[in-house]
Amino acid sequence: MTATLGACILPVFRSSVWFPTDVRADLLDVKEFPVDIAVIGVGHVGLVTAACLAELGHTVVGLDDDAAKIETLHAGGVPFHEPDLLQLVEKVTASGLLRFTTDLADAIADAEIVFVCVGTPPLPGGGPDLRFVERVAVEVAALADHELVLVEKSTVPANTGQRLTQVIAREQTARGTDLTNVHIASNPEFLREGAAVYDTLNPDRIVYGTSSDFARDALRRVYAPLVERTGAPVVETDVNTAELIKHASNAFLATKISFINAVANVCDIVGADVEVVAQGMGMDERIGPKFLQAGLGFGGSCFPKDVDAFLHLSRNVGYDFRLLEEVARINAGQRDVVLSKLRDELWHLTGKTITILGAAFKPGTDDLREAPALHLARALLEEGATVHVYDPVALPGVRRALPDVVTFDDPLQAAAGAHAAVVATDWPEVVKLDLAGLVAALDYPILVDGRNCLDPEAARAAGLRYHGIGRGHLQA
Ligand code: UGA
Repeated sequence: MTATLGACILPVFRSSVWFPTDVRADLLDVKEFPVDIAVIGVGHVGLVTAACLAELGHTVVGLDDDAAKIETLHAGGVPFHEPDLLQLVEKVTASGLLRFTTDLADAIADAEIVFVCVGTPPLPGGGPDLRFVERVAVEVAALADHELVLVEKSTVPANTGQRLTQVIAREQTARGTDLTNVHIASNPEFLREGAAVYDTLNPDRIVYGTSSDFARDALRRVYAPLVERTGAPVVETDVNTAELIKHASNAFLATKISFINAVANVCDIVGADVEVVAQGMGMDERIGPKFLQAGLGFGGSCFPKDVDAFLHLSRNVGYDFRLLEEVARINAGQRDVVLSKLRDELWHLTGKTITILGAAFKPGTDDLREAPALHLARALLEEGATVHVYDPVALPGVRRALPDVVTFDDPLQAAAGAHAAVVATDWPEVVKLDLAGLVAALDYPILVDGRNCLDPEAARAAGLRYHGIGRGHLQA
């Protein structure tokens, strides 16, 4: 059974038929520790990965060709907001386990493993731009003078591993260098922004796909201390399958969100409460309660891009994955749901002032990539509304992205004189908002809770005309 599936899941939790337990023993019987690691690209995934691997005791060099980013890190800062990251980077740099450079030759000089964590921004036609991934492979092929594993960590489409193998062979053949010293692997991450350090150090599972014993053994050595600490199961498989696990996981979570949003839209029509529907569904162990939060939909640098990339990949290989088209369509439609709730209350939005409470794509981050709040703000501006935006950390990015909105670092000041407010991010500052103060600040006491994060009864009691998403039973 194990051989036909081509995967190895450790440790064996429920079923002893899956895989031989001695593989787990191998994994933990790691003599050669620590591992010398290079992490290429110290953005969100790269910096968290670098810091956490150093925390496990490995020797890590983080590289970025953005000199400003490296300067920030050398000066003791981190280039973006992520809970616990600054303290962890401080700790592991002070202990000498993590350092930073802009020089690739320096970064990979001793590395046994090179994690590729460069950006894969979306292309206009769908699908990610993999030029930066290719460039790293070309440069590593040129510089590698010892055996190492090049590991995809950035979210990349299936078959990227095959492409990397091709690039390495092409470059090494052209240079007449050793054709066997670079091994390719895929080791997807499953970390959430805002909980990235926690997720990396407390994984639900560790997945890596390799095509050689050398690469598999190196990754075992990297993760042995984490398996020992957490007991996390390990999925060992081939490169294509590891890539697909990442694609399928994100696409499934996005599907779950769009599904509950579609249900919410029906709830609004029939007068049911999606929060209770989700609760009732989630009690079924096969469904589970997570990722059933209806609202303005998913944003961020992962789900929107990954759903597109999976669609793009499926089309390229001749499979029409229409389910994912619908997931993306429902997600985009959630902004229209909020707009139509505003129109129901205010009729024309032209000339009205709308306050958006929260801009980041979710709480705990200043990341505005594909943030539903920004899509909503753009639509409101296009319709001729004045838009006030409050966010506790993301306002500098809001001003850069949308110079025409008016920004406030206080939610009640943002609401002053507005005709309605919309909750777009469920920040604690928004969840705990002084509702009586909000009523006093607004010109009309209209609130659309685009995250269903406020207590409708309390909102009503404070004098608000409360609209949730899929809470049709309580429409104002
Ligand atoms: C997501 C995945 O959760 C991670 O497992 C994955 O590693 C990561 O993408 C990635 O590919 O790098 P992230 O984008 O940081 O992580 O954020 P999530 O917490 O998953 O939230 C994504 C979006 O979905 C947010 O806009 C959030 O508000 C929305 N969401 C989430 C809902 O609308 N409803 C829910 O029930 C859950």
